[in-house]
Amino acid sequence: MRVDALLSRYGYCSRREAASWAKQGRVVHEGKTLFSVNAQVQPERVLVDGAPVPFPQGLCAALYKPVGYTCSHEAADGTPVYDLLPEQWLRRTPAVQTVGRLDKETSGLLLLTDDGALLHALTSPRRHVPKVYAFTTAAPVPPEAAALFASGEFLLRGEKTPCLPARLVMQGECTGRLTLSEGRYHQVRRMLAAVGAPVTALERVELGPLRLETLGLAPGEWVAVDPALFSS
Ligand code: URA
Repeated sequence: MRVDALLSRYGYCSRREAASWAKQGRVVHEGKTLFSVNAQVQPERVLVDGAPVPFPQGLCAALYKPVGYTCSHEAADGTPVYDLLPEQWLRRTPAVQTVGRLDKETSGLLLLTDDGALLHALTSPRRHVPKVYAFTTAAPVPPEAAALFASGEFLLRGEKTPCLPARLVMQGECTGRLTLSEGRYHQVRRMLAAVGAPVTALERVELGPLRLETLGLAPGEWVAVDPALFSS
């Protein structure tokens, strides 16, 4: 790709500003400083201001979303999770997006990518990536809930298609884990509310092969993730 395309694709500056970046000798390709934006480069072999291009093959990262942040770009809805990311990521094109969403009041694992094919593959309804949610409820979850959720016949209010079988494992009367392989609006909260156990705290602790516990993140922190983990 051209130098100006690279600088704008990876969020350094606009295509218009790229000429001045190049003139200042900030772009080096295979050890050679490129003063013109017309030169063709391979992103993996470029240094900008002495540093390699971040995520040259596409960005994929896991964020520990804290409670209170939204997956929307609109500041009017609350503080966007995007505020937790490096500014340069937000200038990349295609844009970095969340893979699916978590509610404002839900914390936990959130995947981010600018790779359209990966985003599409992971959010496709045909791709049942398992997601594990740890919850606390305001009232005990009734014993029959596990069989009901596992049945594949459980209907959420106002919906015509039953939920896919989900695995409920209780740890205490009001705490447990629910594994879903789909992602409907407020699904965990609605399922538990439907059996008389409204959720008071919710965290996504696993997403496909990723486990929050082993990533070693504090709320608000992110880590790069190998997208090949999701290719099976
Ligand atoms: N289910 C919910 O209710 N909320 C989430 O954020 C995710 C799953």
